[in-house]
Amino acid sequence: LGILIAIGVGAYLLGSVPFGVVLSRLFGLADPRTIGSGNIGATNVLRSGSKAAALLTLLLDALKGTVAVLLARELGGEDAAQLAALGAFAGHVWPLYLTFKGGKGVATLLGILVALSPVVGLVAAVTWLVTAVVSRLSSLAAIVAAVATPMGAALLGHGDKVVLLIVLSVILIWRHRGNITRLRDGTEPRIGRK
Ligand code: G3P
Repeated sequence: LGILIAIGVGAYLLGSVPFGVVLSRLFGLADPRTIGSGNIGATNVLRSGSKAAALLTLLLDALKGTVAVLLARELGGEDAAQLAALGAFAGHVWPLYLTFKGGKGVATLLGILVALSPVVGLVAAVTWLVTAVVSRLSSLAAIVAAVATPMGAALLGHGDKVVLLIVLSVILIWRHRGNITRLRDGTEPRIGRK
């Protein structure tokens, strides 16, 4: 039990690192919490005008999920990997270092999926990309991908991960409730617009 607690806490602390805030500071950009949607994720870092900072935010916010799951699997097997997925995702959404005011979990969930089940990660990434290219709405793409993810896992023989993925997807969609209001009102900005 001690090892599982250590893995859960470790994953949470790793997931808590807010790369959007850190990289914006390093690049000399506005703190993402003060611009656009106020979110700390790559989509909002892009609104500060730096594609490089946004891309790095996406990569590193994803990578912390991937690393947490892979390390946990090494240390404690498949149950530990799922616990780490939950921990890292919770860390990004409710980060210790930002007094629990974090992001929406899109990049981190993608990174988690890459490690948990690459084929489900591919389903999520392709769903996100197709929706984003067609709609130019990052939030809509995230919501559609979040719905597709547990279904993809169920259909592709990853039934043991469906409960976890439903929990993560529900949190992700709930974190987009401001976006959902704007999507409904037709005021959600398209990708690349401020
Ligand atoms: O990465 C979160 C994305 O789905 C929406 O971001 O900044 O438009 O609320 P944002």
